[in-house]
Amino acid sequence: MAGNAVVFRCFTLLLICVAVSFVRTQSAPESALITSIPGFNGTLPSKHYAGYVTVDESRGRKLYYYFVVSERNPSQDPVVLWLNGGPGCSSFDGFVYEHGPFNFEAGKTPNSLPTLHLNPYSWSKVSNIVYLDSPAGVGFSYSGNESDYITGDLKTASDSHTFLFKWFELYPEFLSNPFYIVGESYAGVYVPTLSYEVAKGIDEGVKPVLNFKGYMVGNGVTDDEFDGNALVPFAHGMGLISDDLYKEVTSECRGNYYNPASDSCESKLEKVDEDLEGLNIYDILEPCYHGPATIKMINGNTKLPVSFRMLGETERPLPVRTRMFGRAWPLRSPVRDGLVPTWPQLLKTTSVLCTNDEVATAWLNNEVVRQAIHAESVNVVDTWELCTGRIQFHHDAGSMIKYHKNLTSKGYRALIFSGDHDMCVPFTGSQAWTRSVGYKIVDEWRPWIVNDQVAGFLQGYDYNLTFITIKGSGHTVAEYKPREALEFYTRWLDGRKI
Ligand SMILES: *[C@@H]1O[C@H](CO)[C@@H](O)[C@H](O)[C@H]1NC(C)=O
Ligand SMILES: *[C@@H]1O[C@H](CO)[C@@H](O)[C@H](O)[C@H]1NC(C)=O
Ligand SMILES: *[C@@H]1O[C@H](CO)[C@@H](O)[C@H](O)[C@H]1NC(C)=O
Ligand SMILES: *[C@@H]1O[C@H](CO)[C@@H](O)[C@H](O)[C@H]1NC(C)=O
Repeated sequence: MAGNAVVFRCFTLLLICVAVSFVRTQSAPESALITSIPGFNGTLPSKHYAGYVTVDESRGRKLYYYFVVSERNPSQDPVVLWLNGGPGCSSFDGFVYEHGPFNFEAGKTPNSLPTLHLNPYSWSKVSNIVYLDSPAGVGFSYSGNESDYITGDLKTASDSHTFLFKWFELYPEFLSNPFYIVGESYAGVYVPTLSYEVAKGIDEGVKPVLNFKGYMVGNGVTDDEFDGNALVPFAHGMGLISDDLYKEVTSECRGNYYNPASDSCESKLEKVDEDLEGLNIYDILEPCYHGPATIKMINGNTKLPVSFRMLGETERPLPVRTRMFGRAWPLRSPVRDGLVPTWPQLLKTTSVLCTNDEVATAWLNNEVVRQAIHAESVNVVDTWELCTGRIQFHHDAGSMIKYHKNLTSKGYRALIFSGDHDMCVPFTGSQAWTRSVGYKIVDEWRPWIVNDQVAGFLQGYDYNLTFITIKGSGHTVAEYKPREALEFYTRWLDGRKI
């Protein structure tokens, strides 16, 4: 009898142990669960989590993430890490303006809280998506030692890699899901460099093993030569410069616009700049607001013809942001090795002028919102800015093409997508560098279709390297073309033909 009792007790203990370890390895951290979202009145279609992961204990360097669980099949759907670029821009750009779970309806006054509605084109419809503020100093991420804000490509990739290990330790139930890394603009550098770290970690047997499958880059900075040479052919093809000027600039510069070899080339390039100066660099079809006075035009009292106002309309109630970087960002300034000026540094002000980031700024600087989404208060991380000048960032990883070659040749899938009306990182550069990799064409240039309409064009290469354009879209594809963006995103992640 006594023996049986001991066995029974041991068995019970064992059961408890098993149960405890089951709970420990199966459950996301309850403390990170978001229980209410100021401005949102309804029921969330899936769980949301947010918080900090410490990537360097001794210096107190902490990266902030917001995790939206998939609304489809969380245990099977991929885990996607989303990164905005800049450098210096918060991934809440993607969350608020592009493919996040909500449509933000602006409050009555600039500082009042927006009202949140569900976004029918949220990327959380088909994926578990993690929005990461990176590097430290950007968005809600910060460090106990501000010298960490002097950083670059390689350190950013290394920190994000550390973040991933610690994040998957917190959410072990997602470790076996297919994992993808996705981003746009300067994340054209973040995505391949981080993917490379992840792939190297897998090769070296680092635990836990991430189930990394591939990556996507949208209108991404890639290579100073390809990106630098992209503008002139784009401007000509789009009908923005004359045939004569195109012939002159081509013959004077001999196809090298990136690094003008002569004064005559330089002077032709200046003529190109003059022609393009008044355009909205993020979408050449969109109006450009020349100066703070015209901000008034944004707020209803508009002199814009209806045909122009309609350009910013999408199937989402959230309008495309009014932008006027077209005036500020010098043309022909591709990212080169060395210090990369952030927007505020470039504009020599403390914030990005004249871009309408009001809704995000009002929401993310509200203390009640910050508490609800587990971000530190203003005393600890300062005001949230869409793009910050707080960091000093060095482009120290060179061209991304060697990273793309390495990753694709190892079997990782890559989708390179371009809004074809973006003049910031024009599709002509991405089209040229993907071709230059030299892989066999396995799916020759063809339209891809959404709702019986041509949504853009696609060329597929061997090694699962795919290049697509999104017709009529500007720089931030999911903002300009939410429906088409969710379509190609879903098809590609599901491994279907786009
Ligand atoms: C929230 O829901 C309540 C009850 O349904 C409604 O009266 C109120 O207007 C809603 N508020 C917002 C901001 O949608
Ligand atoms: C911050 O880091 C720098 C460089 O590692 C170090 O020299 C400095 O002492 C640190 N400052 C503080 C306050 O810890
Ligand atoms: C990719 O990079 C790794 C690490 O540097 C290297 O060992 C490997 O040979 C490279 N593979 C290819 C196919 O370039
Ligand atoms: C392309 O991706 C598929 C699905 O992941 C994989 O089975 C195939 O081996 C890949 N092809 C190449 C050439 O890497």
